[in-house]
Parts: sequence; structure tokens; C-alpha cells
Amino acid sequence: MSRLSDFDEVRHDWTRLGERDPLWAVYVAPGKRGGRWDVDQFLAKGRADVGAAMAWLDELGLLRRWGRVLDFGCGAGRLSQALAEYADAVVGVDVSVPMLDAARRLDRTGGACRFLLNDAPDLRRFDDASFDLVYSELVLQHLPAPIIDTYLAEFMRVLRPDGIAVLQCVTSPLWTIKGAIWRFAPGWLVRLGQRVILRYPAPMRMTAVDPDHLRAVVTAKGGEVVDTRDHDDPAAHWRSTRYVIRRIG
Ligand SMILES: C[S@@+](CC[C@H](N)C(=O)[O-])C[C@H]1O[C@@H](n2cnc3c(N)ncnc32)[C@H](O)[C@@H]1O
Repeated sequence: MSRLSDFDEVRHDWTRLGERDPLWAVYVAPGKRGGRWDVDQFLAKGRADVGAAMAWLDELGLLRRWGRVLDFGCGAGRLSQALAEYADAVVGVDVSVPMLDAARRLDRTGGACRFLLNDAPDLRRFDDASFDLVYSELVLQHLPAPIIDTYLAEFMRVLRPDGIAVLQCVTSPLWTIKGAIWRFAPGWLVRLGQRVILRYPAPMRMTAVDPDHLRAVVTAKGGEVVDTRDHDDPAAHWRSTRYVIRRIG
């Protein structure tokens, strides 16, 4: 049998993670494994995360009310539902069928969110300039580098002029023991450890993106980075960078 492509491997892994324990796979936190996330707490975390992002946009003088929003890698809809409070319509896309099943099952927005399968390494199912806001958190970090670049370019394409993207990527592992493993161990060994020692249903790969690289990719595709914020996540052992990007009109 031929080796799976990187994209197929990601789809396969996230399908398995979604089948086994979708809320834990979306947000890995102590004590939440094995279906132990309380749904109200899970959704409240999404509201807090999106609320912080909207406050940031407010500080930057950017719109806080949106028409059509794309939640890329929506998982169980944690952020999509929160985004619906600031938007007319939210489209959540994901590569994992069981994640989308969970999103539909948990949806309390009364039709403001639509959850769609996108099992392509691009966003060709969406027209140019068809979204006002693209939002993505805890997703790009799990993809191989060339696929991240393709989606970044696609985000710029599907945004209307002056539309905004709010994106999160991981930047580098922290200087903790687990961070050092991420930094120095080969990817295949980390994935093996996740399967055999941590007993993950499937591996969760991590890919760092250099902020200068991201800036170059979005600039080449007609975007500009308006602001960034770094955040050290000791639980994940990674530093993240969050980006506000404007599609130039
Ligand atoms: C850690 S979860 C985060 C979900 C959601 N963004 C949140 O923060 O609640 C990562 C999600 O990205 C999805 N994903 C992974 N690769 C993807 C791709 N190429 N296209 C769309 N979704 C993808 C996974 O299936 C999973 O639901």
C-alpha cells in the first residue's frame, strides 16, 4: 500500500481523534480525557477566547460586528458558537467528519452556524472575497508547513477587501522538559511517544511557524499583519503567536 500523503495523514488522525474523544482532542486539558469535558465549560472557554480576540480588535479600532465568518478547523464548534454572537452567519469547516458531528450535536445557536466538511488542502469550495472575518485557533499548528502556507494564501483569497483574519500559530517550544522533547526529538519519535506512552488515539503533530515567514506569505497574497501578540502556554509547552491580518482593499 502506498504511504498516505501528509494531508491524508492529518485527515486520518483527526478523524480518529474526533471519533474517540472529540472535546478532549480539541482542547487537551488535565482531567478532561475520556469524555470528561463539561459541555458548558467547554463552550464557555470558547466564549472567553473569542471575547478576548474581539476586545483586541476593538482596541485596534477594527469592526466587532461581522457579516459572514469562516471558522477554519472548527472542531466541535467551540469557537463557531462564540463567533455567532458577533456575526450574521458563521461557516465552520473541518476535515474530520466526527468533529463536525459533534459540532452539530452541540450547536445552540439556532441556525447561525453551518458546519461543513472541507477535505481538501485548500478552500476551493469558497468564492473569492466571500468572508468578512476568517478565524482560526489551535488548527494551523497541527498541519505540515507547506499546507499551512496554502491555507494562509487561501484565507487572503476568500477575505473581502478590508476583511480581517485572526489566526494563531505556534512559534517555538518553551524551555521545559516537554518543550525540549518537541525541540530536539524527531517528529516520528514524538508521534510514537504520543501513541505508545501517552496512549493518544492518534498523534497530534505540531509545526512552528516563524512570524517573519507568515508575514511574507500573507503580504505576497495581498494581506498585511496589523498586530501580533505572543502567549506562552506552559500546559502545551509552546509559545503561540496570534495575528490580526487585514486584507488590503
Ligand atoms: C485542536 S482542534 C481545534 C478546534 C477549534 N478550532 C477550537 O479551538 O475549538 C483542531 C481541529 O482542526 C481540524 N483540522 C485539522 N486539519 C484540518 C484541515 N486541513 N482543514 C480543516 N480542519 C482541520 C481538526 O479536525 C480539529 O477539529
